[in-house]
Amino acid sequence: MEMAVVGLGHVGSVMAAALATQGHGVLGVDVDSQKIELLSQGRAPLHEPDFEALLQDALSSGNLRLAIPGEVKGLGGIVFMAVSTPPSPDGGIDLSQVQSALHWVRSIARTGATIAMKSTVPPGTGRSLMAGPLKGSGLLYAANPEFLREGKAVEDWLQPHRVVIGGDEPAAIEALRQLYARVDAPIIVTDTTTAEMIKYSANAFLATKISFINQIASLCDRLGADVETVARGLGTDPRIGSQFLSAGLGYGGSCFPKDVRALDFLSKENGYAFELIRAVVDVNNRQRQLPLAALRKEFESLSGVRVALLGLAFKPNTDDVREAPALDIIEYLLEEGAEVRAADPVAVDHARQFVPDSVTMARSAMEVLEDAQAVILVTEWPQFKELPWDRVARIMVEPRFVFDGRNALDGRLLRSLGFLYRGVGRGLTSERATDAAVLRSLG
Ligand code: UDX
Repeated sequence: MEMAVVGLGHVGSVMAAALATQGHGVLGVDVDSQKIELLSQGRAPLHEPDFEALLQDALSSGNLRLAIPGEVKGLGGIVFMAVSTPPSPDGGIDLSQVQSALHWVRSIARTGATIAMKSTVPPGTGRSLMAGPLKGSGLLYAANPEFLREGKAVEDWLQPHRVVIGGDEPAAIEALRQLYARVDAPIIVTDTTTAEMIKYSANAFLATKISFINQIASLCDRLGADVETVARGLGTDPRIGSQFLSAGLGYGGSCFPKDVRALDFLSKENGYAFELIRAVVDVNNRQRQLPLAALRKEFESLSGVRVALLGLAFKPNTDDVREAPALDIIEYLLEEGAEVRAADPVAVDHARQFVPDSVTMARSAMEVLEDAQAVILVTEWPQFKELPWDRVARIMVEPRFVFDGRNALDGRLLRSLGFLYRGVGRGLTSERATDAAVLRSLG
């Protein structure tokens, strides 16, 4: 089936390559000629595990063509829209890229082609696009939201948990039904607004799980309970499920923060107070202040204190720093006069544009830990979890404070090595082993 993907970011580039390897003729279109050049050479313009291999398979299959809009003569079949829908300052969604991409598609798509909206757009958007820019265009429209996680986009595309198709005319649904016919997952067919609402509700619910466990964690800290064990006790109930119950510094990224705020904005626009969502946002914002509160308990003042941050990306397996907790934590520490250094295996280049030059950044944790008095684990990269913490104890200096922002470290081991360990909801106060031999060995 002929198809095109307009917008080659995390979602668009993965799906264009995947569809091509599945035997479809795919035209990938993006306004960024450098991105088109990189992709044409089989190189990934973004950090997504397994994507480069998929792209090279797609190119060698001969099914994937890549072009900037000016090189495209016509479009037919299914035209997937996967352009960015960034947040607006007021909390709504900026649909300008969708509008301009649709304007271009309308100018060259053949009558009867189906526009399939992959970009996350507020519920009701499909209806307004059909009544506006697409009216009288002879083009069909369907909502077809994606549920890809950054860092797992290839896996999530190849093994979706469900396919959602939203169309207000049967013809608009048919083309997508055929495309996904052989996918081994439930196919949910509904109207456009309901399909759009499924996407927002999914992200809002996952964010709610995270803020819920983070509030339980705060209570655990006060009561001396361990949130990791509480989460295991919750997750073993199939009605609750074990995922998205990891307490810590909360969610970041280009999706949860934007989608949750947009749902709150949409509710207000429609005269409804979605209190739960507001609480989810407020709790999440407070989580990234936890390291500072813990540091204030250990240090009279943070002025001149050398603090190392482990992790800049908003989560492991990505170089994306959008809404990453690390960026706010660095800002809070600098405001208190701390001397900050940060390490991340892949996100340093992306973070540089948001972090003041006074902050030394490196890919290696050991480099930033040298002489540090405190360390904050912000992103649970495997490299950081597997650090030789006995060696870290020797290169850090008193009081060797560790704030484990993702409960990814072994608190008891670290305390036995003489660190002052604090997790999130671990019920462990930041005591350390009183073993004099250990303390002597640290000098
Ligand atoms: C999310 C949705 O999972 C995906 O379906 C949607 O298409 C896009 O948004 P993504 O933003 O890539 O994907 O990240 P995800 O893996 O969902 O994690 C989101 C954030 O939640 C990260 O900052 C992560 O650190 C945090 N998180 C996740 C927690 O704090 N606790 C958890 O238990 C899980």
